[in-house]
Amino acid sequence: MDIRCALPDALLSGLSDFVAARIGLHFPQERWRDLERGLVAATPELGQPDAESCVRWLLSAALTRSHIEILASHLTIGETYFFREKKGLEILETRIVPELLHSWRDGKRHLRIWSAGCCTGEEPYSIAMLLDRLIPDQTAWTITLLATDINPRFLRKAAEGVYGEWSFRETPEWIRTRYFKRRKDGRFELSAHIRRKVTFSYLNLADDVYPSLLNNTHAMDVIFCRNVLMYFTAQRAKNVARNFHRSLAEDGWLIVNPTETSAALFPLFTPVEFPGAVLYRKTKDNAPAYAAIGYQTPALQPDLSPAETVQLLAPAERQPEPPEQAATMAPGDTRPHGQDDREALSLRARTCANQGRLGEAIAWCEQAIAADKMNPARHYLLAAIQQEQGQADAAAQSLNRALYLDSGFVLAHFALGNLRLSQGRHREAERHFTNALAALRAHPHDEILPESEGLTAGRFVEIVTSALASLPRAVAAGT
Ligand SMILES: C[S@@+](CC[C@H](N)C(=O)[O-])C[C@H]1O[C@@H](n2cnc3c(N)ncnc32)[C@H](O)[C@@H]1O
Repeated sequence: MDIRCALPDALLSGLSDFVAARIGLHFPQERWRDLERGLVAATPELGQPDAESCVRWLLSAALTRSHIEILASHLTIGETYFFREKKGLEILETRIVPELLHSWRDGKRHLRIWSAGCCTGEEPYSIAMLLDRLIPDQTAWTITLLATDINPRFLRKAAEGVYGEWSFRETPEWIRTRYFKRRKDGRFELSAHIRRKVTFSYLNLADDVYPSLLNNTHAMDVIFCRNVLMYFTAQRAKNVARNFHRSLAEDGWLIVNPTETSAALFPLFTPVEFPGAVLYRKTKDNAPAYAAIGYQTPALQPDLSPAETVQLLAPAERQPEPPEQAATMAPGDTRPHGQDDREALSLRARTCANQGRLGEAIAWCEQAIAADKMNPARHYLLAAIQQEQGQADAAAQSLNRALYLDSGFVLAHFALGNLRLSQGRHREAERHFTNALAALRAHPHDEILPESEGLTAGRFVEIVTSALASLPRAVAAGT
């Protein structure tokens, strides 16, 4: 195969703009050689005969997520190790977590941390080990540790949890002794109880898909995004920072690498200085309006029988009436509601959920359901909030109600799959993911799923397919 390496400037310039827009990565002219090298490596995987045709094709074709993944996997830098840049972790340990440990949110303890650009998992697993030490009894807490990346190869390696010497290059020895087992091949396997604490998933930070209840990127207490934005164009980094701000709960923290701190990039945040580090905090004064997120689409068999579901749907509630001022409502308001009000109730529930005010969100949501109980989207929203509160059984019931009302509700199948996955019930998870894919067949590829903030059915097929692929191999092989 003839892969030419000296691409014309015009093509490299077009490619550089394309990569900036679709992946966020910054390749100024001085780095065009790196860009070209990555492109050349990606060319065969992208099924193109040579690098030049590959660029022309990239610039003109309708690309899928897997095309972007392939390109990204050859352009991104996978440098990471356990307990890297200890300062940020120390502040998490000595200041942030203790503060959160003493704060009660809606009578329930929550801790939500996101490692964005998690690479092969060393960063989120370091956080999981730190929390394990700090909160030995985690039963009273609902802890979410989300780790996302654009590179599926990195994510697969992260999920395996097996590392070589190089990943421990600046890691205290006791960490390895306490949390890893040496394998016969000389590599180190992370303890299953730490591995289980982290949820890995694909997320392209250059896409406007967060915050969202769907991908669990809302109401975060802490976001780690270290050694990622330094590779982004300034504009893309600014957009990412703005979205992070929306993904954080009030008083939440953004932790970047010390060389990435910048007043220009993070104007929405309040910089907080610690000895040797500056962290960014979302403070009340800057709180923006939140976008509401929810899904409502047309599939298959819920877990409950119709009789059980009918029981769950009783007792009969008040009937809808003409619209009135939603703005004057409060949770628990018993006045009748019209269509506009019902939408407003639901919107309020989502806004509170996005901000982490879960008790209030539940109250609004229950009111929305009372006013509109045959609407599956309301039960779906309630399930998302219940899951946040750690009420897995209640969430499963709400999802089953949603599916009883609309058996083709793709998002409800998907959420039920994720819920079972988090409980280690892999076969059930597989069934629900498969149902979601079946339900998606009813939607044209380009159809934007209602209330999805622009997510197309085709895109969602990719998300569900990758969730199925992430199931343990024993399940996938049917053993
Ligand atoms: C140098 S690593 C940093 C890993 C870790 N945060 C740390 O500090 O050790 C950069 C990571 O950012 C990821 N990345 C680059 N562009 C991304 C994008 N658009 N969306 C999500 N992740 C991205 C890369 O795949 C890579 O895993």
